[in-house]
Amino acid sequence: MSDRLFIFDTTLRDGEQVPGCQLNTVEKIQVAKALEELGVDVIEAGFPVSSPGDFNSVVEISKAVTWPVICALTRAVEKDIQVAADALKYAKRGRIHTGIGTSDYHIKYKFNSNQDDILERAIAATKYAKQFVEDVEFYCEDAGRTDNAYLARVVEAVIKAGATVVNIPDTTGYCLPDEYGAKIKYLMENVNGVHNATISTHCHNDLGMATANTVQGVLNGARQVEVTMNGIGERAGNTSLEEIAMIFKSHKERGIETNINTTRIYGVSRMVSSLMNMPIQPNKAIVGRNAFAHSSGIHQDGVLKNRESYEIIDPKDVGIDDSAIVLTARSGRAALKHRLQILGVDLSQEKLDKVYEEFLKLADRKKDINDDDVLMLAGKDRTAMHRIKLDYLQVTSGVGLQSVASVCLDIAGEKFEAAASGNGPVDAAIKAVKMIIHRQMVIQEFLIQAINKGSDDVGKVHMQVEYDGSHYYGFSANTDIIAASVEAFIDAINKFVK
Ligand code: KIV
Ligand code: ZN
Repeated sequence: MSDRLFIFDTTLRDGEQVPGCQLNTVEKIQVAKALEELGVDVIEAGFPVSSPGDFNSVVEISKAVTWPVICALTRAVEKDIQVAADALKYAKRGRIHTGIGTSDYHIKYKFNSNQDDILERAIAATKYAKQFVEDVEFYCEDAGRTDNAYLARVVEAVIKAGATVVNIPDTTGYCLPDEYGAKIKYLMENVNGVHNATISTHCHNDLGMATANTVQGVLNGARQVEVTMNGIGERAGNTSLEEIAMIFKSHKERGIETNINTTRIYGVSRMVSSLMNMPIQPNKAIVGRNAFAHSSGIHQDGVLKNRESYEIIDPKDVGIDDSAIVLTARSGRAALKHRLQILGVDLSQEKLDKVYEEFLKLADRKKDINDDDVLMLAGKDRTAMHRIKLDYLQVTSGVGLQSVASVCLDIAGEKFEAAASGNGPVDAAIKAVKMIIHRQMVIQEFLIQAINKGSDDVGKVHMQVEYDGSHYYGFSANTDIIAASVEAFIDAINKFVK
């Protein structure tokens, strides 16, 4: 008999807190529907009181998604809880996730308070949330550094107050696996009424321990895990969904089962990476480009004779299908649509027609169109609402030549041109853009990355621009790396020039 492990996905809340990874509501709905298809049990859709955008996303995801529980985050503050309840009004099954810091660091320095007062606030927040929804999850922030005896008091009290789930976050990613496992074991053994609620893990990856800690939490009694796709999240990220799903699928002897349809992992992983402009490191477990690539001759020979000699996971089990049809300039709309569907993207006929036009243009420049290209094309019209657009760009550069760029920007329908020289073509083009925009902007980060391989590959550019004391993120992808750099710069500018 297996024990059911509930998968709580927080890609759209903790994952989305990463600077530069923000999604609009339409994109969040797309991810939420893909997570539903993947089989997650709970979707944390946002922190409604934090912004009108987050509030609206929780409302719209609640309408769009049918069977997973929709969860909204709050602090242990009445106003937060009211707003979350309001945002959840369309959820078929809604959950309020409230909580407070329980470690001495939080109690003394964040709240200037004491343990008894925090305990009272925890009970009050739980009881208040219970007035709006039956399903209330309580988080003990920084539980990883909270004294176990006090943590047990809080957990017991909130369960008594009606919490259905209690979350034990290792907020700072400080714990070692044996410590975190022991913490969960301690709670399972010392909290009266612990079986009236589900204990949840929520591990951050600051020491690279998030997955190991989560596994230890589960082996010691936790039955919900809080995870994100590709392990994205603040700082070093959260526990990654795909790792937990595949660990318990590969280790059936542990008797833990999830509802994840693992063959959808690859598609959802790519979709999240593409929509959030967050590249996946090539050696990332399960979903990295190299996760199943055998380069050494000995390994290749072994895999060809018997896959299991060197592979513990069949790539097909996570949705990687090497025999998938390669898209080229001769592929029709149906093939493109099929590929997009495998990647979890369902487009209207009108949007598909537009994406297909762009696809044909790209296929003229690039022989094989891969999944990243297709996802990039599907998300391309994110610039359609931009006030400032690149109309044209012309550069002259070469060895022994001064680089010169001419740029024309379309600003709310009016055209502005400028030319500049610089230290290389990107520098020249950026200078020309600055001459038109007339603001003091500084590029703080500039990352150029080829998605796959080949000199005709699409290059992705991430840029962080500082303006007036704030940071703005820009992104673009183009086979022309200079154009991608200028487009990423303009994407960032659009975030502050309204
Ligand atoms: O890491 C953390 O403690 C959190 C809580 C807000 C649940 O994300
Ligand atoms: Zn967190």
